[in-house]
Amino acid sequence: MTVYTIASGKGGAGKSSFTVNTGAALSALGLKTLVMDFDIGMANISLMITFESLKNVSLHEVLAGKADISEAICHTTYGMDVLPSGISISGFKQADPEKLRDVIWQIVDQYEFILIDAPAGISKESVVPLAVCDEVLLIVNPELPSITDAMKTKLMAEIVGRKVKGVVINRVMSTKGELGVRKIEELLEVPILGAIPNDRSVMKAMAFKVPVVLKEPGSPAAKKLKEIAGKLANLEVLEESGVEKKKERFLERLLKTLGVKT
Ligand SMILES: Nc1ncnc2c1ncn2[C@@H]1O[C@H](COP(=O)(O)OP(=O)(O)OP(=O)(O)O)[C@@H](O)[C@H]1O
Ligand SMILES: [Mg+2]
Repeated sequence: MTVYTIASGKGGAGKSSFTVNTGAALSALGLKTLVMDFDIGMANISLMITFESLKNVSLHEVLAGKADISEAICHTTYGMDVLPSGISISGFKQADPEKLRDVIWQIVDQYEFILIDAPAGISKESVVPLAVCDEVLLIVNPELPSITDAMKTKLMAEIVGRKVKGVVINRVMSTKGELGVRKIEELLEVPILGAIPNDRSVMKAMAFKVPVVLKEPGSPAAKKLKEIAGKLANLEVLEESGVEKKKERFLERLLKTLGVKT
């Protein structure tokens, strides 16, 4: 079981899209996954997915101590569970981000992956999810301001005792002036998990409230997103204790997904 916080530093890098798509891709591999919208001030994950049914409480009420987490978790039509955040300013004001650790603790054994979508910046709300996760995934765009802000986030993660597992470069256009994969790796001193191209399919799929990995699985961005999810799933299998058993289960699922009979 792994809790990843998806952070960037700079706003708009693609954290929420990555979180939702990785959640959907991991669920498609048969891994029980929860996506948590911890952008409690500017929540928008609810706008990106289709719920089986919506609850009348959200992470706001859970962090305010007014509801239990089990009351707020929603099922989606594509396997993964989602803990949406509220959108009201009054709800945000009542929510206590420090309660996140206790909230996660209550559900930790129910999922193989918990993906926390963190807010941009280095406010209290963005540092708490760095402190409570197992590891951090950094989302960057291939430009210097994005990298320098990500450096700050990496530093914050280290200050609160967490490691950055890897970097995902998002919205790659391969135009002149863009920073290359090697340069970004050198600057951030963290392995690159993958580079996702700038692809209109991402926004188009979002308009249908379906992750692009499901709406347009053959699109260039979806292919990369699935590849990265596969890497995370594989790392999980190799790193967890009880490696052999998990490996077997994972391989079975993988073969099933690929249509190979066992
Ligand atoms: N690979 C991509 N190709 C094209 N558009 C993308 C890609 N990834 C994300 N986008 C678009 O970029 C915009 C910002 O993405 P997203 O909301 O996921 O970023 P964010 O980091 O969560 O932003 P914020 O910091 O505001 O929470 C969205 O309109 C999304 O559709
Ligand atoms: Mg976001």
